[in-house]
Amino acid sequence: MTAQNLSDPVAFYDLRPENENFADAMRAGLSRYPKSLPCKFFYDQRGSKLFDQICALDEYYVTRTETALLISNAAEIASHLGRDCHLIEFGSGSSIKVGILLTALRGQVSYTAIDISKDHLRASTDALAQKNPDLLVTAVCADYTKPIDLPSEIVKQDGAPVVFFPGSSIGNFTAGPALEFLAQTADLLRPRNGGLLIGADLKKDEDILRAAYNDSRGITAAFNLNLLVRANAELGANFDISAFHHDAIYNASLGRIEMYLVSDRQQSVKIGSSSYSFAEGEAIHTENSHKYGVEQFQAMASAVGFEPVKVWIDEENLFSVHFLRVI
Ligand code: AVJ
Repeated sequence: MTAQNLSDPVAFYDLRPENENFADAMRAGLSRYPKSLPCKFFYDQRGSKLFDQICALDEYYVTRTETALLISNAAEIASHLGRDCHLIEFGSGSSIKVGILLTALRGQVSYTAIDISKDHLRASTDALAQKNPDLLVTAVCADYTKPIDLPSEIVKQDGAPVVFFPGSSIGNFTAGPALEFLAQTADLLRPRNGGLLIGADLKKDEDILRAAYNDSRGITAAFNLNLLVRANAELGANFDISAFHHDAIYNASLGRIEMYLVSDRQQSVKIGSSSYSFAEGEAIHTENSHKYGVEQFQAMASAVGFEPVKVWIDEENLFSVHFLRVI
């Protein structure tokens, strides 16, 4: 369904991403062994706010490093994107980083924000439109982990499309889905000769990685445990939140951080009429965050039709921002 309110400066399309709903995902995820849940359910309103707090943590180098890279290379990035591009952001969150690009571009740019978190998307795009009265802003509530049928008026909009996918969100995908996502993005960009500006977290010292996902203030723990808070509130589940704890480990062979919710004791949890039992120490796998070497990432993108144009890396080799063109 699409909805557009003409008195609102932001055209809003609701593609109803909740159709694959939290209840089904929860039931399926807790019924399999090992137990696992898709990380996209982190981002209800509370989860989106907790994520913003993670981004501001000292230990979570990701956001500040990528932001600094975008700022210090803004002019060069803008020259690759082109003054009249149409920026399409997947997982726009609070739409903060795109502001850096908009400032540098100073042209006839338009912006489409795609995010799963509807209220947060509305608030962020309204605020952005208010700050940039000349910017054409479109908001699409959708789940980018599935193929999205973007409304044709968005696809055909003026300006060469540039997909902006910051934050290393590509890291949430395992290898197969990452390739599929990049291939779909290439298909979206190909008719208009578009580009992809994407952040990818680099492989690095494991202590730095572990600290980033096990922060000392416990914000990441609260973010992870929020899945259970959400299940209690929305599904009438009876998780004893205090009987689970957060854990994040680095899996070196797969090159990724893995997040878990671990049961502190043997217990069973009810969701509706079903009950799920947990052994002491049994974990629910809730997120993967893959780390990529520069060549490794470029090879993956090249395999589905991208040509690497430029990569920007900080002095400490923490994070990379790639610009690629579709061929
Ligand atoms: C939004 C997927 C990039 O993997 O670093 C942060 C999410 N999880 N801390 C990441 C996250 C725990 C984040 N991404």
